[in-house]
Amino acid sequence: MRRITVLGVGYVGLVTGACFADLGNQVICLDVIPEKIEKLKRGELPIYEPGLEEMVQRNAAAGRLAFTTSYAEAIPNAEFIFVAVGTPSGVDGEADLKYIRSAVENIAAHLTNYTIIVNRSTVPVGTGDSTAQTLIERGKKQGIDFQVVSNPEFTREGSAIYDFLNPDRVVLGSVDPKAAEAVADLYRVFTKNLMITDLRTAEMIKYASNAFLAMKISFINEIASICEKLGADVQQVAAGMGQDQRIGAAFLNAGLGFGGSCFPKDVKALTYMAEVNGLHPQLLRAVMDINRDQRRRVIVHLRQSLGTLRGKTVGLLGLAFKPNTDDIREAAAIDLAHMLSTEGAHLRAYDPVAMENAHRILDGVTFCSDAYQVAAGADAVILVTEWNEFKQLDMPRLFNSMRRKVFLDGRNVYDPLEMQAHGFEYRGVGRPLNAPNGELVRAPEREAMPVA
Ligand code: UDX
Repeated sequence: MRRITVLGVGYVGLVTGACFADLGNQVICLDVIPEKIEKLKRGELPIYEPGLEEMVQRNAAAGRLAFTTSYAEAIPNAEFIFVAVGTPSGVDGEADLKYIRSAVENIAAHLTNYTIIVNRSTVPVGTGDSTAQTLIERGKKQGIDFQVVSNPEFTREGSAIYDFLNPDRVVLGSVDPKAAEAVADLYRVFTKNLMITDLRTAEMIKYASNAFLAMKISFINEIASICEKLGADVQQVAAGMGQDQRIGAAFLNAGLGFGGSCFPKDVKALTYMAEVNGLHPQLLRAVMDINRDQRRRVIVHLRQSLGTLRGKTVGLLGLAFKPNTDDIREAAAIDLAHMLSTEGAHLRAYDPVAMENAHRILDGVTFCSDAYQVAAGADAVILVTEWNEFKQLDMPRLFNSMRRKVFLDGRNVYDPLEMQAHGFEYRGVGRPLNAPNGELVRAPEREAMPVA
């Protein structure tokens, strides 16, 4: 049993705190926002993450997990302090480190004995070194020894507990191998896949991993656009590619592009780091460009089907950036809502859990109680987030309630032929298109190229 403090009760902090408590450690989670801490003390979660509420309640009841807003309470006795505060995008795409700075200041002000600071927030490469320096200098004056370890997280929202407890790898970066080993011991209880590096390398592994995954998505989306023109089916292309073990099948789902709190922010921050160091990160820029285009193409397709969008009613199925979360940060639905409003369309929307969050930032949208209410009287419906409840919709019912019958399947959930059979003007992403007569347009048959 170790004494662990976690700073920040967002997705990363709360999952880290709850999982370590569940493994038998004594954990205290701190946040500077009193409302979040009050909620947690009542056993309510400030975020939606499957399985987390039960885990938090169980460990709080067992006395292993506590919450506070007081640094004086959380810092002095900790053996490990996990920093999991936000690093939002600044104006130029750079990571804004104000919360990190404040956390470091407060740690330095309250520490009383040897402690290992473990950074779990995604920070620009080099931040760990500068943090370590600040803390070590402050500590020397007070006669206290600090060490800093970078421990990037690779957990996905929606399956964060599973990912935490079943990691592909745990990366620990430090100038002090003993400190890294001490943190490694916290993880050894449930995984052997540990990798110890220096601080900067650990920080870079996080950025490079997220940028690579984002690149896979943008890559398949670019292939999808080419497939649409040439009459190939990107889902089969991805399946064919994915069987090559060097490529791998994951993250090859073409769609409306990536969102969330990590990929857009991290690709932009890595781009910025490269640019301010005199480099031209063309591939990273293209990853973001393609992602934006995926959203814009929806408007183009709707105009092709409906003409002007002024006065047309468009329904959005899903608002969260992906299923199983209420997170709408950088969500495709939010971008689409803004673009469609600018075009003068009336918007109707429904999401199983993200409506409250969306309500706070979207004006002029009619929020509905289910998919069928979204479709009622709509000219077009866009499937934006592939929640399970959107995967087996009663299509005749949906069809009959719509004014025009345009269905844009932004996540390739449905079968194009079946949707046409229902009478929809259906369009997926990177799949053979509808001809005006309802038949599938496939690539023109070409004669085989003569073999030289
Ligand atoms: C991601 C990383 O996966 C995780 O390792 C990191 O720690 C945080 O960022 P998360 O943002 O929770 O996790 O979501 P993820 O499941 O990776 O999906 C990100 C976005 O990509 C979603 O908008 C999703 O819809 C989209 N996506 C994912 C695709 O468009 N196609 C795919 O094939 C996969």
